[in-house]
Parts: sequence; C-alpha cells; structure tokens
Amino acid sequence: MMVQKTFLVFGATGRTGRHFTSLALNEGHRVRVLVRDPGTLDPATPHLEIHRGSITDPIDLDRLVHGSDFVVSLLGNARLQKSQEINTAFVRQLVPAMRRQGVKRFLYQAGGLSSPPDRALPPILRAIRSTVARRHLGQHRDNEAVMRYLAEEAEDIEWMVHRAGIGSDGPSKGVLERSSRKVSIATFRDCASYDYRILTDASAIHTCDVSAYRP
Ligand SMILES: NC(=O)c1ccc[n+]([C@@H]2O[C@H](COP(=O)([O-])OP(=O)(O)OC[C@H]3O[C@@H](n4cnc5c(N)ncnc54)[C@H](OP(=O)(O)O)[C@@H]3O)[C@@H](O)[C@H]2O)c1
Repeated sequence: MMVQKTFLVFGATGRTGRHFTSLALNEGHRVRVLVRDPGTLDPATPHLEIHRGSITDPIDLDRLVHGSDFVVSLLGNARLQKSQEINTAFVRQLVPAMRRQGVKRFLYQAGGLSSPPDRALPPILRAIRSTVARRHLGQHRDNEAVMRYLAEEAEDIEWMVHRAGIGSDGPSKGVLERSSRKVSIATFRDCASYDYRILTDASAIHTCDVSAYRP
C-alpha cells in the first residue's frame, strides 16, 4: 500500500465517485469530499472529511485544496451541462487554487465520446455521439472545454484526463489499461479503480486517453 495520502474528490456521491471514494478509503487514505447533500454519506466513516457545497456556488477552494496530494473530478450534471459549461467554469477556479496551494496532480474524468484537444474522434465514435448518445452532447462539450483549458493554460499542473467508456454499474469485468484509441465499455467500479491507479502513473500526465480491458 502506498503511504497515506489525501485525496480531494469532487463528485464523490456519483456513480464513479462512490466507488473511487470507497477504494481510496479502503486503501487507507484520507478522502476529503465536497458534496451537495452530505446526508448521502456516512459522517462516521474513518478518514472521510465531508464538506457541503456546490461547484456552482462560491466555495473556499483554497481551504479544500490545502494539504491534498491528489485532486479528482468525477463531476457530472447532465441537466445543467445541456446549456452551461459548469465543469469548465469550476476547473478554471480549481486550477489557480491548486497553484496557490502547491498541489500538482489532477485527474478529470470525461467520456470516451468527448474529443481530446489534439485529435478527432474515430468515425464510429462520432456516429455514436451524434445519434444514440446525442442527449449527452452538452456534457461532451463541457468536457472538451475542460480538456482544451488544461492543454492550453495548465501545463504546469500534472493533469490527466480519463475519457471513460461506461456501460453499467455491475461487478468488475477486468483491469482497464490506458489506450489512445481502443475504448472498452466498462463498469463504474473498473473506471474508479483505473482512475485510482493512473493517479500515480507519471506517464499519464498530460494525456486525454481512453481505457480498454487488458486482454
Ligand atoms: N455515466 C456514464 O455512462 C459516463 C460514461 C462515460 C463518461 N462519463 C463521465 O464521467 C464523469 C462522471 O460521471 P458519473 O456518471 O460517474 O457521474 P454521476 O453519477 O452523474 O455523478 C455526478 C457527480 O457530480 C456531482 N455534482 C453534480 N453537480 C454538482 C454541483 N453543482 N456541485 C457539486 N457536485 C455536483 C453529483 O452530486 P449529487 O450527488 O449531489 O448529484 C455526483 O456526485 C462525467 O464527466 C461523465 O461525463 C460518464
């Protein structure tokens, strides 16, 4: 087990976030979360520090970021992201707070159907995005704006983006590995486990890769 670290997690009550938070706690780490409804988490959980708030409201980000080793965004809000880039607006505040607090490593989970800044989606994924997955367009646009911001304005931060492909909240289907093109339809649990692992993988810094199950 790695030395005890402090993870600051946004989106800890979500489908990926719940698995991520449990995993980090089970591995013996401290987890600090910002949640809109603290009632959905057990405040007695050892090493879990719960802060109440919304990313769309003013928050003391310096206080949240202070002392953390890893910052993780597993945020999503399909309804609001249809019309507003709330994650981009938030990350634009978060990164300066990380700079002020000397915190470097940041993982942001986007979707496999969000285009990375440096290349176009393969035709099959473009087709899926504009047809069956059309209702998530707002989320993809927001995730793409986050990736552009990180690539263009946050080179000093050790950011990494996981463009996850997720199909269900079932049990583990295997171990996900980073891939530039091949994307698996994974479970939330496996994505959370992948996110946890790549946070300490220096080769993932400044990448916006997808993930695929190890053959
Ligand atoms: N779902 C998929 O199939 C899928 C597939 C591929 C990629 N992704 C990407 O993975 C990321 C996470 O997705 P997910 O499905 O795991 O998320 P999710 O289940 O939709 O959960 C989103 C999380 O964000 C939190 N949140 C939303 N608005 C907030 C606000 N204003 N302030 C604070 N927290 C807020 C939610 O809190 P509450 O509990 O308060 O609502 C929840 O914890 C997203 O970028 C998404 O695009 C998702």
